[in-house]
Amino acid sequence: MTTTVRTRVAIVGAGPAGLLLSHLLARSGIESVVIDRRTRDEIESTIRAGILEQGTVELLDTIGEASRARTVGHRHDGIELRFEGEGHRIDFGETVGRAVWLYPQHEVLKDLIAARLAAGQDLRFGVTAEAIDDGDRPRVLARDVDGQPFTIEAEFVVGSDGSRSVARAAVTGSSQGGYFREYPFAWFGILCEAPPSSEELIYSNSPDGFALVSQRSATVQRMYFQCDPDTDSDAFSEAQLWDELQKRVPGTELTQGPIFQRDVLRFRSFVAHELRRGRIALVGDAAHTVPPTGAKGMNLAIADVRLLAAALDALLLRGDERPLDAYPETASRRIWKAQHFSWWMTSMLHVAPDATDFDRRRQLGELRTVVESAHGRAYLAEAYCGWPSSE
Ligand code: DHB
Repeated sequence: MTTTVRTRVAIVGAGPAGLLLSHLLARSGIESVVIDRRTRDEIESTIRAGILEQGTVELLDTIGEASRARTVGHRHDGIELRFEGEGHRIDFGETVGRAVWLYPQHEVLKDLIAARLAAGQDLRFGVTAEAIDDGDRPRVLARDVDGQPFTIEAEFVVGSDGSRSVARAAVTGSSQGGYFREYPFAWFGILCEAPPSSEELIYSNSPDGFALVSQRSATVQRMYFQCDPDTDSDAFSEAQLWDELQKRVPGTELTQGPIFQRDVLRFRSFVAHELRRGRIALVGDAAHTVPPTGAKGMNLAIADVRLLAAALDALLLRGDERPLDAYPETASRRIWKAQHFSWWMTSMLHVAPDATDFDRRRQLGELRTVVESAHGRAYLAEAYCGWPSSE
């Protein structure tokens, strides 16, 4: 026999978008059920990006007195662009008067899960959504931890179930339906035990390809270097990994230490053809994916949630459909700006496998244009720190 659970909003996917949405809805007195096929431990240990826009941190502040991003994370007021062995600082304060915070995504997830469970949220791990039925009362057809069928009937369903979304098919008519672009490179990411090599992030272009020097804490660092998408993460020794990183960051000596985590991240740009159908909407990676350069992924997911939470308030508290009708159009404007920014940072900083001498020199011309122009620096800073929530 299939168990049926009834709620106002069914949220498929307990990533940052799904969890934050359940929190914002609860603040308005709207009940929701959140499910995720992963275990709590899997969710909390997924290594992802670490940069939060100012607007993201402000929204996370609503979880508690001040988000831990402010108290445990680190505020960054600039980044360095490095090319031809020389660093050029982009100062966020001077250009746009905003900042970003370095605070890893899995820490955001831990904070959100703890806060949702403490608030009595119906949050179920190990529950797999198999399909979503549209209708006046849409239904999520799922299987619980023991493989037993289980249905959630709601007034609205939100797909926040990541890039391999099940909800997407219910909205776009196919699991793939969307605009997309592949890239001929990937990132090799490492976590190592060492003091920071730099106080701020370094985005470095070199003839050998791109590297990013990021941080996690006083004793743990995160770095990435451009690699072939088919690279096997076990193919390099630790000494080779340091060589690959170091030659892409000429001019700064990287502080080395034991590497305890390695992963290869493939790149993709994707936007679903539709973000809403009837009583189902998509947010976050279910709706769009960006390449990681510029760290827009989670920030864009949170920006979707800000809009959708307001639209669901209007619909479920006042019967006003208009903000929901506007959601795809309003969200798309920011999504495509972020798509452009992520594509631009990626193309400007990486070296394509088939790049000619002309391409390399043009790319250096572009980098020089950005750092030497007040407009170039301001565009980069504005997009990196995030557009205001009204945009
Ligand atoms: C990190 C990841 C990014 O994609 C980025 O642009 C900056 C920082 C990180 O994991 O620290």
